[in-house]
Amino acid sequence: MALLFMSLAERGAVWARVFEQANERFILGEDAVTDPAEVTHLACWQPPADLTVYPNLQAVISVGAGVDQMPAMPPGVTLSRTIAPGIEEMVRDWVVMASLMLHRDMPQYLEQAGRGEWSAKGVTLARKRRVGIMGMGRIGRLAAASLSAMGFNVVGYSRSGTPVDGLNVFGADQLGDFLAQSDLLVCLLPLTPQTEGMMDAAFFAQLPQGALLVHAGRGKQLDMAALRTALDAGQIGAAMLDVTEPEPLPNDHWAWSDPRVVITPHVGSSTDHEEGARHALAVLAASRSGLPIPGEVDQQRGY
Ligand code: GLV
Repeated sequence: MALLFMSLAERGAVWARVFEQANERFILGEDAVTDPAEVTHLACWQPPADLTVYPNLQAVISVGAGVDQMPAMPPGVTLSRTIAPGIEEMVRDWVVMASLMLHRDMPQYLEQAGRGEWSAKGVTLARKRRVGIMGMGRIGRLAAASLSAMGFNVVGYSRSGTPVDGLNVFGADQLGDFLAQSDLLVCLLPLTPQTEGMMDAAFFAQLPQGALLVHAGRGKQLDMAALRTALDAGQIGAAMLDVTEPEPLPNDHWAWSDPRVVITPHVGSSTDHEEGARHALAVLAASRSGLPIPGEVDQQRGY
């Protein structure tokens, strides 16, 4: 059993040490492969085009939380996304920061600051702000717990609508009701054929007037032209985006200079090297003992 690592050099140096300590075989980069039959696991963001050169490949591990960048796996190859507390905590932090920034009118104050204008808006109580979180996975639940603890009125939305952690969760057939009560909408959904292009004009029209948008899902879920129209119409008050389509967003894109939109360059999380390596070791251990693979992706569903 050997893991072929194809990712950042800095990350590779940490993984090499962790694997050595665990007595697991670690191959740093494709050039270092001497026997392709030895490779049972591959860790990468995107795999090489032809995975069939590794006849004994059992699992591909995404070094991040997302897997939408991955091609279809060859038959019998498991896909695992990295499960690491640090990823969830980092995205939770970004979501809380972005939610607070919008809740407390930071886009407007940043614009005013640029011209030295001292002009105060009224303040809304957190408990009077209804927050709707789309995506009730590990990150969504963590964000919901933090925002609830701060007093926000939080509900969730997921495909199944299964209640989690005492939270009211709307299902796919209740999207309209969910949106109608989301003064501040947080998107943490994975990119799937169902969520691609989901946030469009018809979607925005169902939100309360002046709703705030926090987007940390995937850029392809958001129709940027529809966002601009909704901002101009006052349907959306302001937005914070950590993901765009394309990435990087071209520097002449309208959203960069629109004071109602604050963009960060997909920095919600960056997998901690050590935690990523530990996840990979857990995948190897599970493969060896025939146990369920941590972070296994339902390849049909896409997350
Ligand atoms: C980042 O978006 C990731 O999927 O890890």
